[in-house]
This record gives sequence, structure tokens and C-alpha cells, in this order.
Amino acid sequence: MDTKERILVTGGAGFIGSELVHQLSLSGAEVIAVDNLVNGRRENIASVLSDRVEFVQADIRDAGLMEQCMQGVDRVFHLACLGVRHSLHSPHENHAVNASGTLTLLSSARAAGVKRFVYVSSSEVYGTAQRVPIAEDHPTFPMTVYGASKLAGECYARAFYQSYAFPMVVVRPFNSYGPRCHHEGDSGEVIPKFLLRGLAGQPMVIFGDGRQTRDFTYVADTARGILSAGFAAHVLGETINLGSGKEISLNALAREITRTIARPDAAINYQAGRPGDVLRLCAATQKARRLLHFKPEVSFEHGLVRLMDWYADKACTAEKLLESEIVCNWKNQQVHVHV
Ligand SMILES: NC(=O)c1ccc[n+]([C@@H]2O[C@H](COP(=O)([O-])OP(=O)(O)OC[C@H]3O[C@@H](n4cnc5c(N)ncnc54)[C@H](O)[C@@H]3O)[C@@H](O)[C@H]2O)c1
Repeated sequence: MDTKERILVTGGAGFIGSELVHQLSLSGAEVIAVDNLVNGRRENIASVLSDRVEFVQADIRDAGLMEQCMQGVDRVFHLACLGVRHSLHSPHENHAVNASGTLTLLSSARAAGVKRFVYVSSSEVYGTAQRVPIAEDHPTFPMTVYGASKLAGECYARAFYQSYAFPMVVVRPFNSYGPRCHHEGDSGEVIPKFLLRGLAGQPMVIFGDGRQTRDFTYVADTARGILSAGFAAHVLGETINLGSGKEISLNALAREITRTIARPDAAINYQAGRPGDVLRLCAATQKARRLLHFKPEVSFEHGLVRLMDWYADKACTAEKLLESEIVCNWKNQQVHVHV
């Protein structure tokens, strides 16, 4: 891809957003990464900041600032949000950012006349699969405020398309993993947590019986799919899954990580299930193939090795990194209520 356009990425210092900014920085585009750094890190994009790739620390809920950021912007990739575990301890704040924040951003993008707005939603809008693979017309039955607020964001984006012919497309990534993913706090995800625990000789903690399944995609592939949605023809108004189509249980994930780190003695600690945990996810991938020519390139086995190598390159041990892990990371957090 080669473009001289001005492109805004919200959540641009986060896990997937920073990968998107890295990929966009190779395209010649002028990039504005907006993030309030609540979970993102400036270091995630520090190596690509330049006179064409700019970082703006801002909150997407700030309508005035968003209007300024949107000036002259051609395309928007909207990824800023608060996560699923956050929604369990702070549902109102989660809604305020994920749903109301999206509405604020849609309004400022429309006022600025952007050419395309990509809303990055989530497979969590489906809830537990009623049938697999999950096609885009599968019922949406979110089990958490996170899933519900991501769905509300989708609905606002689609409403703008219907009411104002606003040029938008919705993508629904399934679980992503890879460099710059989160192990820490309430952002901590299962793959980095398992991997770091295995490397540190600590048991991998599974909430429930481990038979719950996910569909994992390597982050470079996830970001490539999101980018494709930003530029492909004939996708306006569409909703498109981004996944691998492969269903992996948490028990199988733990076994695969044990193989990756070559620690056959790695232990698993089973604990009571997490509230709102989705039991089954597996993407139907045909629509992404047809409309975006999207197919993940990095195999699961290879992706895990790449992530392990990334941790090995950090000047920090697994034990040290795990100091910021919270095991039951949906509990014991300060509850913010904004009404
Ligand atoms: N990681 C996954 O497996 C996954 C799966 C499906 C969908 N998604 C979606 O992809 C997107 C990116 O997720 P991620 O995993 O990179 O998460 P992330 O937390 O790393 O990224 C979100 C970013 O948004 C920023 N942010 C939060 N509130 C903000 C606010 N009010 N104003 C400005 N910035 C704010 C955070 O600091 C963070 O950097 C999200 O929209 C998420 O719903 C992620």
C-alpha cells in the first residue's frame, strides 16, 4: 500500500493500534495516533514517530479536541476503547468510552468530511456462539458491558451510514495476540499471561474447565485485515469478521504453549469461572476473504514462537513482567461511576 493521505488511528499506542501505526508508517501516509495512554504506551510507537507520524495524547471523549484532530483527515481507524475485564468492575466508564466516545468521534469525523471510518468492533458482540463458525449474521448477544458497548458503537456507526450516508465499515476481530500485547492489570490477555507464567515456572491459571474456545489471530494479520477494510472497494456499510476460522480451547492453548516454551512440566491451576466468560468463539472467514482478500498468514505455532522471541528480546525477565499481572483481573479495582 502506498498513500499520501492523512490517517487518524485512535488507540494508536495500544496493542493492535500500534501495530496498525507501524504498518501505516511504511505506506508513506501522514499518521496521527491518538491515545490517552490509559492502557497504551508511547514506547509502542516511539520507533516510528517522525515528521509524518505524530502522537497526540488525547481522550476520544473530548469533542473539541477530536474536532481539532480530525482537520484534514482522510481516513479514521477507531480502536480506542476500554476492555472486557474493565467492563466488569467499571461498566459506566466502559460504556462512556466505548459507546459514547464512539458517537463523539463519529460526529467529529462526519463534520470533518472524512472519506472512510473503520470501526474496530469485537467478536465479543456475538456472546457465546450459538452455531459455529460464526458468520456476520449470527445473533448478537453480548455477555458483558464491554461486548454491549462495542455493539452500541457498531450501531452508531451503522446509523450514521443509514442516516447520513456516512462512509463507514465495521470489522469484528476475534482474539489477537503478538508483540506489545498485554499481560498486565485488567488488560491482561490469556496468551501473554500463559506464556509468561510458563516461562517463569508458574502455573497457567484457567478460569473454568478450560474447554471454552477462542479463535486466535497474530496481530500483524489482524492489523493487515483492519487496514484492508480501510482501503478495499465495495465494503461501505458492511460488517466483516477478522479471524482465523480455527477453534482452540484454553486447555489446548496451554498444551501448545507448553510445547512452545519446551517445558513439559508446566502446571495448570484451574479456578472458578470468570463472570461473563464467552464459552465458544470461532469465526466464519468467507466474507473477509471475499471482500478484503484477507487470510491470516502467520500460523498459530509460529505466532507463539514470535511472541516468545519478542519477550526474550526485552530487557526484562518473565518474573519481572509478571509483577504487574493481576490474576483475577476483573476484581478488586476501583469502581468509577459516571452517570
Ligand atoms: N486484542 C484483542 O484480542 C481484540 C479482539 C477483538 C477486538 N479488539 C478491538 O481492537 C481494538 C484495540 O484493542 P487492543 O487489544 O489493542 O486494546 P488496547 O487496550 O491495547 O488498545 C486500546 C487503546 O485505547 C486507548 N484508550 C482507552 N480509552 C481511551 C480514551 N478515552 N481516549 C483515547 N484513548 C483511549 C488505550 O490507552 C489503549 O492504548 C479495540 O477496539 C478492541 O475492542 C481487540
